[in-house]
Amino acid sequence: MAKCDLHPNIRDRWSPYSFSERPLDPQKLKLVLEAAIYAPSSFNEQPWHYVYAERDDVESFRTFVSFLDEGNQVWASQAGALVVSFARVKSNFTKKENFYALHDCGIALGNILNQATSCGLDVHVMGGFSRQKVRSYFKLGDDVMPVAMMAMGNYGDNSQIPGELAERDMKRKKRKPVEEVIFRNNPANPALNLV
Ligand SMILES: Cc1cc2nc3c(=O)[nH]c(=O)nc-3n(C[C@H](O)[C@H](O)[C@H](O)COP(=O)(O)O)c2cc1C
Repeated sequence: MAKCDLHPNIRDRWSPYSFSERPLDPQKLKLVLEAAIYAPSSFNEQPWHYVYAERDDVESFRTFVSFLDEGNQVWASQAGALVVSFARVKSNFTKKENFYALHDCGIALGNILNQATSCGLDVHVMGGFSRQKVRSYFKLGDDVMPVAMMAMGNYGDNSQIPGELAERDMKRKKRKPVEEVIFRNNPANPALNLV
């Protein structure tokens, strides 16, 4: 059997707190977001949408920073771009709630993260932002939900950021051991004992 390793883009991805002053190449930014469109989705609804603001687009960037919780503003305001992801939560086919909308946005995010690593860019996903502010700025109806924000850019020098953030930036998050996550079905005792 051909040897198959965990892909380094998957294994080595992490969420940095330090971004460089170096501007983010706009073509790379677009390519990274384009990776989303290749994700699978329930009924091929493709319920994902993205709006970005580059740091040199001062007015848009300032607005996007203002969506973020204060704890995220401190470091994410140094990113090359901020992105908001949206999910169309009502199905275009059934006209009812699309149960898989957030799930499918998550798959698309996986593509984005993978492509970003491949392009040498770093992304830090954030749930810490005001959905209300985003809703009112983009005048969203009930069919669309702001899902997450992303800080994207070139990795920076963490000696230039406040001590506590630099410490966080140097630590890598632990993973649960594979035995706690993946199970071979046991037909004699199918009970799952999840922790
Ligand atoms: C949906 C989501 C929301 C998150 N929200 C925040 C956030 O508001 N602030 C933050 O610093 N990190 C946030 N993170 C990053 C996680 O804390 C991080 O992915 C996790 O601790 C694993 O670390 P790693 O990405 O470095 O492997 C979020 C990640 C995801 C996927």
